[in-house]
Amino acid sequence: MRGFFVVFEGIEGAGKSTLMHRLSRELERRGIPFKTTREPGGPRTAEAIREVILQRDLPIEPMTELFLLMASRYENTVKTIIPALEEGYIVISDRYRDSSVAYQGYGRGIPIEFIEELNEKATLGLKPDLVFIIDISVEEMLRRIESRGGEKNRMDSQEIDFYRRARRGYLLMARENPDRYVVLDGTMSEEKLIAKIMDIMRQKMKEKGVGYAL
Ligand code: TYD
Repeated sequence: MRGFFVVFEGIEGAGKSTLMHRLSRELERRGIPFKTTREPGGPRTAEAIREVILQRDLPIEPMTELFLLMASRYENTVKTIIPALEEGYIVISDRYRDSSVAYQGYGRGIPIEFIEELNEKATLGLKPDLVFIIDISVEEMLRRIESRGGEKNRMDSQEIDFYRRARRGYLLMARENPDRYVVLDGTMSEEKLIAKIMDIMRQKMKEKGVGYAL
């Protein structure tokens, strides 16, 4: 596919959204065609599924949640991501298939092979060209959530362990696939992070032969 597909991953509070926003501004300034999306979500139907998944008072089985995430991913893949890549856009997604491996797999304990099997179907086998894992410790995550006055400041130890496992999952995925994954220290300054992101994208896009000058 002609475009270039970049995904931001990481546990809550890592700063993915801020960095995606910054990256979008950098691309805009250079007149480079790009589209952003997020998961769960993206096209209308996937956003409707997102509302169900993120309803805090709705009791949901881990497996139900997984299937909903996959349904949302399929919608996003076939309606937004693949068409944009085929037209040559850079696509930037806030989370994609690895969120399910980290959260539902390492976090909730659903077998990783099963999740990857569903991921293959939900993405039609599409893998990002580049995944930035914005890494912070769970202690840092808790500090950030608290300072934002978030409702998660009463997180219990079980939930805290869930995030530790998810983080470990991300770091393992990165170690297994050093070509496509880059772990960035989320406590670095935004300026340093965006500079690194631009450098790495420049290099990877060149390798893939994507013709935009970053
Ligand atoms: P969101 O409010 O977008 O959080 P964040 O800013 O951290 O991305 O909510 C997305 C939530 O859904 C987040 O807690 C991670 C979770 N999630 C999964 O558990 N599995 C998945 O596959 C995806 C895409 C998200």
